[in-house]
Amino acid sequence: MKTQVGIIGAGPAGLLLSHVLDQQGIDTILLENRSQSYVENRVRAGVLEQGTVNFLDEVGLSERMHREGMPHHGFEIRFGEQSLHINFDDLTDGKGITVYGQQEIVKDMIAARMAADAKLYFDVTNVSIKDPQGNNPTISFDHDANSHELRCDFVIGCDGFHGISRETIPEQEKETYDRNYPFAWLGILVEAPPSSKELIYANSPDGFALHSMRSPNITRNYVQCPPNDKIEDWSNDRIWSELHKRLETREGWTLTEGKIIEKSITPMRSFVCETMRFGNLFLAGDAAHIVPPTGAKGMNLAISDIRYLSAALTQWYQTNSEALLVSYAEQCLRRVWRGQHFSWYMTSLLHKFPEDAGFQQRLQLAEFNNLSKSRESRTALAENYVGIEF
Ligand code: APR
Ligand code: PHB
Repeated sequence: MKTQVGIIGAGPAGLLLSHVLDQQGIDTILLENRSQSYVENRVRAGVLEQGTVNFLDEVGLSERMHREGMPHHGFEIRFGEQSLHINFDDLTDGKGITVYGQQEIVKDMIAARMAADAKLYFDVTNVSIKDPQGNNPTISFDHDANSHELRCDFVIGCDGFHGISRETIPEQEKETYDRNYPFAWLGILVEAPPSSKELIYANSPDGFALHSMRSPNITRNYVQCPPNDKIEDWSNDRIWSELHKRLETREGWTLTEGKIIEKSITPMRSFVCETMRFGNLFLAGDAAHIVPPTGAKGMNLAISDIRYLSAALTQWYQTNSEALLVSYAEQCLRRVWRGQHFSWYMTSLLHKFPEDAGFQQRLQLAEFNNLSKSRESRTALAENYVGIEF
């Protein structure tokens, strides 16, 4: 088999790249090791920055998102009994975020790929990359009980944090940075109308909690939990009790319960592989970097990588210039490190740090007071949250 660009992983990064390159007349084959229904139903993040929405508009993938997504004009931070509203309309230049589940975007992207007769293979196994530094890097994989060799001009690793692409780059050639946090998030999806028009991030004496949503009938809530907790440690009663305690700190505000339809635990980690290119293998999205979810940046960074990579590959095929491919990692990493800093800031501001509770708590309160008093600080927070300009 042959293609121009072989893409591994059908998450938002891989699907979007295949879509945009197809629009430029560049041939791609996309390989995914899970089933279509698994990737379409995997519950993930849900906040789209303004720049992400604009890019989805540009490439024609935003029709259902505008119909069903929920534009938000601000969010709330609760600190004990105090509350602070971050108002995007007031603090940014007309920008905002849209709440729309990642799996809905994935469904829209798969539907668009299918409508364009894309070469998209689900349920592939034994994926490996050969000769990434050569002129014809090759992906070998099994599908429907047959083994295949796919010769490519470029191989793009969009296979997430646990994929094989990053592992193909030898350790000594790879520059990586990481930080683990001493807590995780337990997330639930609930059949209940949101209890607030906007997201609520709460720093409480019992730990962090977040009230978010997916639609007028579906709520998404999170509680901070110890990093090694198992889902069995959290009965529904315990989850609701922690959510009520951590979120209901304002007079008259109550959290609406409902049937829990999904429950999962996400570790909190920051990771960057600065080696986003190795010969003709490029990494994009979670394959190259992950952020703790507190800043809502993960999917937005994946999409911003694809914005740069699709432009770079298009330039290469249209003009034979390698300029944008050469600057790809540098361009991405500028946004990635901005996103890492913001995610670390939000994480540090809002969680209970088990080892260092007293000191960290006073730092948090100092920063919360600063945000409450200083419009400049609120502006910086709002601008980072809605996403910095390209
Ligand atoms: N072969 C083929 N596909 C693979 C392999 C493999 N060896 N390993 C992983 N995959 C697939 C996964 O099943 C998944 O569908 O690669 C895809 C990677 O998708 P994501 O993890 O969604 O990563 P990405 O597209 O970069 O999107 C980043 O996902 O985790 C969230 O918070 C993150 O919102 C961010 C977004
Ligand atoms: C979500 O709705 O899943 C969500 C929202 C905001 C975050 C993280 C996750 O910061």
